[in-house]
Amino acid sequence: MGNVNRERPYFVGNWKMNKAFSDLEQFITSIKSADCNQWIAPQTVQLHSMKEMTKNHGPLKIGSQNHSHELSGAFTGETSIEQIQELNLDFAIVGHSERRQLFNETDETINKKLRLSCERQINTILCLGETLDQREENITFDVIANQIKKALLNVTSEMFSQVLIAYEPVWAIGTGKTATPSQAQEVHEYIRSTMRELYGDVSNNTPILYGGSVKPSNARELMGMKDIDGALIGGASLASNDYNAICKNGL
Ligand code: PGA
Repeated sequence: MGNVNRERPYFVGNWKMNKAFSDLEQFITSIKSADCNQWIAPQTVQLHSMKEMTKNHGPLKIGSQNHSHELSGAFTGETSIEQIQELNLDFAIVGHSERRQLFNETDETINKKLRLSCERQINTILCLGETLDQREENITFDVIANQIKKALLNVTSEMFSQVLIAYEPVWAIGTGKTATPSQAQEVHEYIRSTMRELYGDVSNNTPILYGGSVKPSNARELMGMKDIDGALIGGASLASNDYNAICKNGL
C-alpha cells in the first residue's frame, strides 16, 4: 500500500477469533465513511470474502491478524505471506500480545514475519506492550525498547517506512482498564524517540496506535494526545455502531 504517514488517524479493528460469515455483510454496509483510515482484520478464513465484499464500495481496508515466519513448506495450519499478498490485502498485523503469550511467539519470529511482509510492500502493524508485572517493576521502557530493537533487526529504512506501531499494554487488553491518556502518551513519546535513534527523520511519519480497551467513550481523549495516531481496537470493533462512534469521536 506504500509508505505510511500521520496525516489521518488509523482505526484498526482486530476481530480476533470472532464473527460468523453471516455477520460480515451487515457490518460492512453499516460502516460510515469518516476522515480517517478504517481498517479491519478478520479471521484468516474470512479474508478473501471480506476483501471481495469491500472491493468496490465502502471505506474499509482489510488485513491479516497473523502470518507465518516461514515462506512455505511443511507448517501445518499456518498461513503464508505469499497468500496474504495474493489476496491483495492492505495490511498485516504482527506480534500481538495474544500471539506472544498464547502461541509462544518470540521477538525473533516476529522480526521474521515483519521482514516478510515489509519486503512485499505490505503495511505492517507491529504490536508492543508490557505486562502488569513489568509495569509494576518499573521496567516498561526497557521492555518496549527491547521489543522494538529486536523486532526491527535488519529492517531497512525503506522497509520501516511501511511500518505502524501499536502500543498495547497487556494489562489493558480486553480488561476494560484503559491506560490514561498521559500514561499512553508517555510510552508513545518514548517509542518515537527510540525509533528516531534507529531511523532518524523517517520515524516522524510512523503512526503509533494505542490499543487496550479503546471504546467510543475514551477515544476522543486518547486521540487528543500528541503522539497517539490512532487505535487498535478489539472488543469495540465487533459492533459497527461502536466502531463508527470511535471513528467519529477520535477525529
Ligand atoms: P481490546 O483489544 O480493545 O478488546 O482491549 C485490543 C487488542 O487486543 O488489539
